[in-house]
Amino acid sequence: MAIKQIGVIGCGLMGAGIAQVAAQAGFPTIVVEANDALLERGLGGLRSTLDGLVARGKLDNRAKEETVARLTGSTRLDDLAGTDLVIEAITENQPLKNETFARLDRICAPHALLASNTSSCNVTGMAAATRRPQQVLGLHFFNPVPLMKLVEVVRTILTDDASVATATEWVRAIGKVPVQTKDSTAFIVNRLLVPYLLDAIRLYEGGLASLEDIDQAMKLGCGYPMGPFTLLDLVGLDTTMFVAEVMFEEFREPRYAPPPLLKRMVMAGHLGRKTGRGFYRY
Ligand code: 3HC
Repeated sequence: MAIKQIGVIGCGLMGAGIAQVAAQAGFPTIVVEANDALLERGLGGLRSTLDGLVARGKLDNRAKEETVARLTGSTRLDDLAGTDLVIEAITENQPLKNETFARLDRICAPHALLASNTSSCNVTGMAAATRRPQQVLGLHFFNPVPLMKLVEVVRTILTDDASVATATEWVRAIGKVPVQTKDSTAFIVNRLLVPYLLDAIRLYEGGLASLEDIDQAMKLGCGYPMGPFTLLDLVGLDTTMFVAEVMFEEFREPRYAPPPLLKRMVMAGHLGRKTGRGFYRY
């Protein structure tokens, strides 16, 4: 099955990034948000990102105009009826995602694939909410989406080979690199990354070294592009805490438990770059 028309639900950080890469790769893309204000904010941000790329000479104006022309906004899930692949990128809430998948199943054509960009919810639950569980899978992108090459293609025990093959081919068509993983909480990257980030917080909380020195150590000692605290601020402390809590709930291992400092920073509203303050100030 050839994928032609894409639907993206949610135009926050991840949804906007996914819509951008899909449209830039030549796919007509419909973006659905909950209301006009969120839609305008999401698509407005996306257009400014593209303008910024043009201003810095990274994208020519014609390519930008063509990308913008491929993007359509909507506040109605029903407008996804003609899509071949829908990628859900709404808030990390399992019941809400299950309900969204049940609605999509009623709206979309029988051949359409339904995917979730979830990092911590279980895709099997979303699949089970539909009458096409064999065509439901995870497509997990990384932040910042336009720059990170990886997409985890997540198969549940219900997903069929044809759907995995079609989704994998589409990931390559948008210039990303697919890896396959099973539907087990946090998949490959977050399963390894989250305990590392939590350990960095524990080291800092325990007084081993300063934030700056821990970041510098991992950048220059291991060649990581960002130190753990810069990365925590990029990902969002609330997002990291949420993923850690789900992992702790699933595996019951202390190494996944959010450290006290992380919880307090989230309570204080220091969520990272998006609020202007996390471990660093912006
Ligand atoms: N679209 C297209 N291109 C863009 C762009 C966009 N929106 N924004 C920037 N670019 C271009 C820039 O113009 C630049 O082009 P050039 O190389 O030709 O000059 C290029 O991309 C690189 O931009 P920067 O100079 O800003 O990038 P850096 O070299 O500083 O790298 C980084 C930034 C890629 C973010 C790097 O620091 C990095 O890899 N950090 C780690 C990020 C990471 O680990 N992310 C994963 C988080 S975990 C996650 O997402 C999972 C979730 O479930 C929690």
